[in-house]
Amino acid sequence: MRVEVLDAAAIGGRGATIIREGIESSGIRVLGVATGGSPGPIYAALAASPPRGVGRVRVFALDEYVGIGSSHPRSYHAAVRREITEPLGLDPASVRVLDGETTDAGAECAAFEAEIAAAGGVDLQILGIGSNGHIAFNEPGADPSSRTRRARLDETTRRDNARFFHSLDDVPTHCLTQGIGTILEARRILLVARGAAKAHAIRQAIEGPRSRALPASWLLDHPDVTVLLDAEAASALTR
Ligand code: PGA
Repeated sequence: MRVEVLDAAAIGGRGATIIREGIESSGIRVLGVATGGSPGPIYAALAASPPRGVGRVRVFALDEYVGIGSSHPRSYHAAVRREITEPLGLDPASVRVLDGETTDAGAECAAFEAEIAAAGGVDLQILGIGSNGHIAFNEPGADPSSRTRRARLDETTRRDNARFFHSLDDVPTHCLTQGIGTILEARRILLVARGAAKAHAIRQAIEGPRSRALPASWLLDHPDVTVLLDAEAASALTR
């Protein structure tokens, strides 16, 4: 695991550089994207200077809410469209977000996994981390071998994400999410965290121990993880 502690303002540019080099020089053809506050500056920096060949890249998003439609501004469909698909000029047909409106979650999640496999697997997965240590919407207690599935949001997550909605009551209770096992199959992982609220989770994700109580700690099992942190998110590290 490589850990870089940067000025908050430098994280977007550094993350974009890693992705740009991956696409232009290292043959990245399948990019896994995360939504949320932390990766936003990376997408903005990428859009300011789109990588050569980005139009050939397939994109898979990590998760989606259940219970709000894909046109809802807080849906991850809308976030991916707004922050990634449109600014990078991608063909919407090459960008796959789980369908939170499906009436058959099992079939939708199985189809999603099959599409990742057919694309050759994820080359580089961008990840945020929850204050409770979640990755995608794999909340504390999630099985480290879990696959894409319907899941319940932790109350911590609902409270954390209430800032994006009018009130806590508006925050969905369920989601579709890639599993921890699915995420760990990506060839490379780029984890991004900013702010003191992430310091505890970041410490265990980097220093261990591995535990179901902190889903990001399973990243210790992955051979190629880069972590970009600001000083606050790094503030609880002891090594
Ligand atoms: P963020 O959180 O919105 O602070 O980046 C990411 C996450 O909860 O996964």
